Amino acid sequence: MNILIADDDPMQRELLQGFLERQGHRVLCAADGEQAVAIVRAEPVQLVLLDQRMPKLSGDLALAEMKALNPLIRAFMITGYGAVDTAVSVMKLGADEFLEKPLDLPSLLEKIQRVEIVLAVDEEVAAVEDALEENPGLPLRLIGKSPAMLEVLSVVHRVSSSPWNVLIGGETGTGKEMIARLIHLLGTRRDAPFIEVNCAAIPENLFESELFGHEKGAFTGAAKQRRGRFELAHGGTLFLDEVGELPLILQSKLLRALQEGRFTRVGGESDLTADVRIITASNRDLRIMVEDGRFREDLFFRLNVLEIDLPPLRQRREDIPALIEHFLARYADRPVRLSHEAMDVLVKYAYPGNVRELEHIVQRTLTLTRGGLIKPADLPPEVRRAEMIDHGLLQERIEAVEREMLVSALERTAWIQTRAAEMLGISERVLRYKMGKYGIRRREV
Ligand SMILES: Nc1ncnc2c1ncn2[C@@H]1O[C@H](COP(=O)(O)OP(=O)(O)OP(=O)(O)O)[C@@H](O)[C@H]1O
Ligand SMILES: [Mg+2]
Repeated sequence: MNILIADDDPMQRELLQGFLERQGHRVLCAADGEQAVAIVRAEPVQLVLLDQRMPKLSGDLALAEMKALNPLIRAFMITGYGAVDTAVSVMKLGADEFLEKPLDLPSLLEKIQRVEIVLAVDEEVAAVEDALEENPGLPLRLIGKSPAMLEVLSVVHRVSSSPWNVLIGGETGTGKEMIARLIHLLGTRRDAPFIEVNCAAIPENLFESELFGHEKGAFTGAAKQRRGRFELAHGGTLFLDEVGELPLILQSKLLRALQEGRFTRVGGESDLTADVRIITASNRDLRIMVEDGRFREDLFFRLNVLEIDLPPLRQRREDIPALIEHFLARYADRPVRLSHEAMDVLVKYAYPGNVRELEHIVQRTLTLTRGGLIKPADLPPEVRRAEMIDHGLLQERIEAVEREMLVSALERTAWIQTRAAEMLGISERVLRYKMGKYGIRRREV
């Protein structure tokens, strides 16, 4: 890393310079604030260690100028002992850390390493973003500026340039397939096919032929020779979705193909080979399945050379507004926007179905709302109910629960009010009264 030391004390400068150079950094030095700013103007400095009290230009003012020149520059402000007050204002100026004299070198080193990690992540994210921008034809628009997603993108970058198998984990609807495609598109195999196999959707007896192909007459219905997905993916990527659904017997067959790099078509004699990179996805925890003996450990290790875990949407709520905008732009046939209140409800919702659920909520809301403004009342009932149960005061919560019980009883009795009332232990008249109070009506589907 390129580090600039700005300090008017030559002893301090030399001490730090020697120490940091031994750690492999390139170190530049300045004896006052003005000189420091001049260096930042001329050289690519990533981190500056600034003495707060310097002649000509103080550390605070120098930092402000440096930030104007390079907003990405990281800065540690070094102050005299006990100068906490100024430290607060210095943080406001954009210092990342504030250190007291005398400097504790091991802790300085640790802070520098933290900066290095952040910078590396930034670079990797920038590389992914550049790649996405350079290829406007990419069939992908990935939304994600939350720290959790930036971390994922940085791993995607590292993973896509490697040849190893990748296992993508994460709850349903978190974007596993999207990330698998992105890894393929960013890697060296991008011009070769991306072939997808949904392990949950293929009947067990057809799986082998689907994956490895079959010869003519291999079984009833095999009228022609057919190439399997392994062969089709040659040179490219084979994406095995929902790999946790694969029965044990098929796991062994897959393992053999991966171990030996060869396979045979069903009913065939000769061994075939294919050069494929395997990306797998699972919304089940394969480690637990391994412990329970439902997933082969050796296969797990083969698939899981590199691992990416997609965080659930409720752990990256910062991304929700941008995702909503993205889906509105995709699905709205007229200009539509959300009221602040509606946005608020959506940002707070828990999304058990993650991004896919959000996508469906936007679609449903668009088809059910007239006009250009979406209000909380236009949102699907489960979103509003959850919001009330989680956030209301006692009376509101009781009402939300009551409403929920009424709707659920009605749904379970196919909206036959006599039976719903019976189920709830109330009279039909009370039921009708409460339905009126809460505005419960049967939804036309
Ligand atoms: N970061 C994102 N930006 C934009 N769209 C996204 C993002 N993540 C997911 N989506 C969209 O959400 C939907 C679900 O994503 P995807 O199919 O990749 O999820 P999944 O994890 O494979 O789900 P499942 O476990 O149910 O198979 C897709 O329509 C996808 O385009
Ligand atoms: Mg999927």
